[in-house]
Amino acid sequence: MKRTPLLAGNWKMNGTLSEAVNLARDLFRQIGKPSGREVLVAPPFPVLTCVAAEILPAGYLLAGQNLHWEDSGAFTGEVSARMLVETGCSHVIIGHSERRQYFSETDASVAMKVGAALRANLIPIVCVGETLAERENGQTLGVIERQVRGALVNLTRSAFPSLVLAYEPVWAIGTGRVATPEQAQHVHEAIRRLVTALSDESSAAMCRILYGGSVKPDNVDDLMSQPDIDGALVGGASLKADDFARIVAFQS
Ligand code: 13P
Repeated sequence: MKRTPLLAGNWKMNGTLSEAVNLARDLFRQIGKPSGREVLVAPPFPVLTCVAAEILPAGYLLAGQNLHWEDSGAFTGEVSARMLVETGCSHVIIGHSERRQYFSETDASVAMKVGAALRANLIPIVCVGETLAERENGQTLGVIERQVRGALVNLTRSAFPSLVLAYEPVWAIGTGRVATPEQAQHVHEAIRRLVTALSDESSAAMCRILYGGSVKPDNVDDLMSQPDIDGALVGGASLKADDFARIVAFQS
């Protein structure tokens, strides 16, 4: 089964309005319209609409970095799935380790957010990953299984084929310390087995699993050559148009 590679840039809390528009324009200048692969950017909420105007005509995809699990209401400071859809988002990142670490997100809140995304026809990009201590204690696959099962507990079978998962080992995020292609493949394969158990073989074969954590121009080719790595979720390097363009142009 050939899955279309997805190269996603998570801009995190970077980019004022003018910076974001300039970056989006630079990306288009450098990447053009890629064929055979999908390009996605996830800018901060206040700049989504302006970035959408730049990138949607180029055929790139837009994602929110988070959402609230309720559809509307008295939740000061939060953003709903429908708000994201109306800015042009087709995807939303859910359960990023920074949100789990700094904003107390749990498997239970991640599951509720996945539900809210699907109700609004947003495709969730569900992030999972172990800490360094968990890896060193041999708990990696156990942690990943708990996070994947926890996030997908309410998913109906029809949602699985378009689902995106991102394996982001916490120790590799923003550290320059990338997982080896073999380490990443080992976990991706385990995630796909888990998704097969939760859905069925053909759905799991369509579901894309991205790797994230210090993806750079000089390591993307080796990562993308692994059979269960279907793309990358890129932080730091997605803020530099030439680096991200090289990542999108990976060769495997
Ligand atoms: P870096 O690419 O900066 O390590 O960040 C990865 C990440 O957290 C993407 O969501």
